[in-house]
Parts: sequence; structure tokens; C-alpha cells
Amino acid sequence: MKALQDKIVQDGKVLSETVLKVDSFLNHQIDPKLMQEIGQEFANRYKDAGLTRIVTIESSGIAPATMAGLILGIPVVFARKRKSLTLAGNLYSSKVHSFTKNETNEISVSKDFLKSDDVVLIIDDFLANGEAVKGLLDIVGQAGATASGVGIVIEKGFQDGGKLLREKGIRIDSLAIISSLEDGKVTFAEGELAR
Ligand code: G4P
Repeated sequence: MKALQDKIVQDGKVLSETVLKVDSFLNHQIDPKLMQEIGQEFANRYKDAGLTRIVTIESSGIAPATMAGLILGIPVVFARKRKSLTLAGNLYSSKVHSFTKNETNEISVSKDFLKSDDVVLIIDDFLANGEAVKGLLDIVGQAGATASGVGIVIEKGFQDGGKLLREKGIRIDSLAIISSLEDGKVTFAEGELAR
């Protein structure tokens, strides 16, 4: 997605060979116009999939997921990383280990908001090792719902998540795939060189 690649080149900061900082438009401050375009792109790709719900994970997946849900006219559910006071029991939950942050979170979704007849698009901001997506797929599976696919804003193609999930036959739609962050430069898998 050209507008997203341009934004990454313009405002993204390469922190190391594995980490890209995008908190000026995606992870902290949010660019609503870009999120709308991202939502539209996911909506275009999944408009004929018969989706009934979008499932994401707090916090940075919520903005792009909400835009896609608005355009598709379907609800958006986000998995919580912390137990909510009002969410006791009645939960689907799964353990998600972040290699990036070296922490494990138990994520959960209320059984009220995911049903066996749901057709779901999973959305997240980053795909690195694929742990968050695996946890969300686990939760969708526990509900007996169908995962139509996974929409990712930025995939780090040099980490294993995308490969592992595609090998399992899961449809992954990544709007920007980064093949390298070496030498302080963002290189996209599509061959476009930035900065
Ligand atoms: P995985 O789910 O694919 O295995 O990814 P990983 O554990 O590596 O990612 C854990 C957290 O780190 C996620 O955020 C993810 O968005 C973020 N992350 C991974 N790689 C990058 C990167 O290169 N740049 C930035 N900015 N973030 C990255 P989170 O903990 O869920 O935080 P948030 O959603 O509350 O922002």
C-alpha cells in the first residue's frame, strides 16, 4: 500500500536491525486519515468474505481494526491483555509470549462477543514472530468461529511469523512487508528501497 510505505519512509524511525518505531502515526499518536485508508484497504480485500466481526488485540490494533469495521459495517472486538473487573469468567483466553518484549500475556475475549457462527477477520498492527496472531486464532478456534484471514499493517518479513502462518494455509494480508531494517534503512519486500 503506497500511502503506508510513504508514511513509513517519511516518519518511521529504524531503532535497530529488528525494530521500527512508528509511534508518530500508529503506536502512540494516530494518523486518522491513514488509518481510514488502511481500513478501506482491508475492507476492499475482504468485502466478499462474508465477515461478521473483526477481532484485534489492544492497544495498537484497535485503530486500524475500527476503521475497517466502520467501512464493513461490522463490530470490532479487541482481546484484552489485562483482566477487566467486569470480565470475570465467561472468557476465551490464550497465552501470548512476546519475544520482542520478553513477556507473556494472557489475552482474553468475552464469550458474549464471539460466536460459533462468526466469520472473523483478525487485524493487528505488527506481525513479527506471529505470537499475537496465533493467540487470536486460538481464541477464534475456541469459539468455534471461522477465521477468514489476517490483516496486518506492517509485517516484518525477516521474522518468522508470516512464513509460519502462511505455511499453515492461513490467509495473511500485510499492507507493507519490510524485508530488512539493516544499515538504518527500511527495505520493502516489494523491492522498494527507502531512506
Ligand atoms: P508477534 O506477536 O508477531 O510475535 O510480535 P512480538 O511479540 O514481537 O510483538 C510484541 C509487541 O511488539 C506488539 O505490541 C507488537 O506490535 C510490537 N512490535 C513488534 N515489532 C515491532 C516493531 O518493529 N516496532 C514497533 N513499534 N512495535 C513492534 P504490543 O506489545 O501488543 O503493544 P501495543 O499493541 O499495545 O502497542
